[in-house]
Amino acid sequence: MTNSVEIQFFVSEFPCIRIHFRLSRASPNDNSRLSPGGRGIKLKRSAIAAVSASFTGPSSVAISVAQLGHYLGPYRLSSIVGAGRACQVWEAVHEGDSRRVALKVLVPQHSHDSQQLNLMRHEFEVGRGFDHPRVIRTMEFDTSRQAPYLVLEFFGPQNLKQLILQGVDQIAYLAPKIIEQAADGLAYFHRQGWIHRDIKPNNFLTNAEGDVKLIDFALAERRKGFLGRLFGGGSKIQGTRSYISPEQIRRQALDQRSDIYSFGCMAHEIIAGKAPFTGNTDNELLTKHLKSGPPPLEGINSNVRPEFSKLVRQMLAKEPAERPESMDEVLHAVKSMRVFRTNPAPPKAESGGRKGEG
Ligand SMILES: Nc1ncnc2c1ncn2[C@@H]1O[C@H](COP(=O)(O)OP(=O)(O)O)[C@@H](O)[C@H]1O
Ligand SMILES: [Mg+2]
Repeated sequence: MTNSVEIQFFVSEFPCIRIHFRLSRASPNDNSRLSPGGRGIKLKRSAIAAVSASFTGPSSVAISVAQLGHYLGPYRLSSIVGAGRACQVWEAVHEGDSRRVALKVLVPQHSHDSQQLNLMRHEFEVGRGFDHPRVIRTMEFDTSRQAPYLVLEFFGPQNLKQLILQGVDQIAYLAPKIIEQAADGLAYFHRQGWIHRDIKPNNFLTNAEGDVKLIDFALAERRKGFLGRLFGGGSKIQGTRSYISPEQIRRQALDQRSDIYSFGCMAHEIIAGKAPFTGNTDNELLTKHLKSGPPPLEGINSNVRPEFSKLVRQMLAKEPAERPESMDEVLHAVKSMRVFRTNPAPPKAESGGRKGEG
């Protein structure tokens, strides 16, 4: 029998782009080789329009996985589950104890890039002490193999952006749970003294039951005290444009309320299907973050309760002082209100292909 595995590769910023590769090996000990498989690249125009606003830079589409082989340290690579600017994320299994993990691997063109290595080391340092059901567990950082990698708890099958792209009507019955769990994860993150600085749907993982885990701590920054905030700021703009807070755009010092703004953008998107602000150019989008009021959620979906719409609007206030003070406050508010007037029902099980494919 042929020893081949089909890999579905996608770019996390463009979950609609799927490139199929066939991984084949002559014998179990050979290094793997990748060759483009039959189906090629699938693009869905509407989906591209929906996610292009969150695209932040060139992605590591160049596939160099063949150079990794089938094993990385003690981990057997099963399939690619995501990719970012400089990394690929693999589902993998520990050879010794059969633990299922995710390996976040720097792609070869970045494996000696000190900036990317420092970001990965930082992500490890930030995440290693975390212990919370709504935040991914960070287990190891290894630089001694053919590619530097992080070992993370595996969770899936997809990130929240991919779930949203299935259609918000389809997932509305899960939305209150997703929002509450995501708030819980971010509240924990803040309580540990960190600001995430890249809160967006791509950086939460979800399963079929609507459970959520926060990931991607590469841009996280320690929360500063009052003086630090007063004299801080000035660092280059980081984060993703569709979710970026006005103070991030202005390169001011940030506190947890910047993440609360991004969380508000994400909560809006979970209900409305798109982020509150979009633009044809970066400039237009950033200007809207600075100046435009968000479209009211209950105007987009009349089933949304006014209290919830108001909470999202408060999170999206231009001035941090007008937002909720903490994610604990947001979490408390979300727990004590209902998102919808009438609870949406789960969609009836369909036979046939999944929406968004083909
Ligand atoms: N622990 C994990 N389990 C399963 N999938 C993951 C895991 N971590 C990341 N992914 C997938 O890989 C994508 C990119 O990971 P991320 O850590 O956000 O990389 P980047 O720093 O490049 O944005 C995620 O959006 C998600 O789809
Ligand atoms: Mg990410």
